[in-house]
Amino acid sequence: MFAPILAPSILAADHANLAAGTAAVENLARPQELAWVHLDIMDGHFVPNLSFGPQTVAALRPNSRLFFDTHLMLDEPHRYIEAFAKAGADLISIHIEPDYDHAGTLARIRELGCKNGIVLNPGTPAAAIEPHLARVDLVLAMTVQPGFGGQSFRRDVLPKITQIDTWRRERSLAFRLEVDGGIDLDTAAECRAAGADTFVAGTSFFAAADRAAFAAKIAAL
Ligand code: DX5
Ligand code: ZN
Repeated sequence: MFAPILAPSILAADHANLAAGTAAVENLARPQELAWVHLDIMDGHFVPNLSFGPQTVAALRPNSRLFFDTHLMLDEPHRYIEAFAKAGADLISIHIEPDYDHAGTLARIRELGCKNGIVLNPGTPAAAIEPHLARVDLVLAMTVQPGFGGQSFRRDVLPKITQIDTWRRERSLAFRLEVDGGIDLDTAAECRAAGADTFVAGTSFFAAADRAAFAAKIAAL
């Protein structure tokens, strides 16, 4: 069982000062801890929203030692992985839903020196990503339909999380199992019980009165 990791999403931070949002995550990191920050990248096609691109990631990179967990909600992610790797992404996750060379793109992400991840939406069956489990560092099971922060957690995704965790155990695979969307301390606990170990939290983290306490509770799951 992997130790829990919190990946705050700066989608929920002040977009007039994303450096401050990233620093808020950085300030919580214990020395020597490999703390994560989740970067939600949206193209206005795969999801009905736009967020930010490689130039923003590159601007954040020099002032942050955080692990940049970069979630590409793009119709054509294969066209952008070089740009995000060059910008300083540490992990690049791509969706299974659009039609492109998933295996080739996952391999290319690793060739570029980044960890890779495969992502599936709430309505996408776990079987869609099963062929890729042995070639990824992370599986992200979306617990909302992607595009916007602040949505309600989709409890119907829990059995899919358990299925993916079961495959992981049965095949002795070492990918992290991440959830994203509507994650707060309560839904994170439900996801942990279902088999998740990596928790993206945007709204709940940035709205928390005591972010350090929030992070400590996730770490204790
Ligand atoms: C959906 C985004 C959000 C964001 C976190 O496209 O991926 O899930 O990371 O959202 P909340 O605010 O629900 O934690
Ligand atoms: Zn995300």
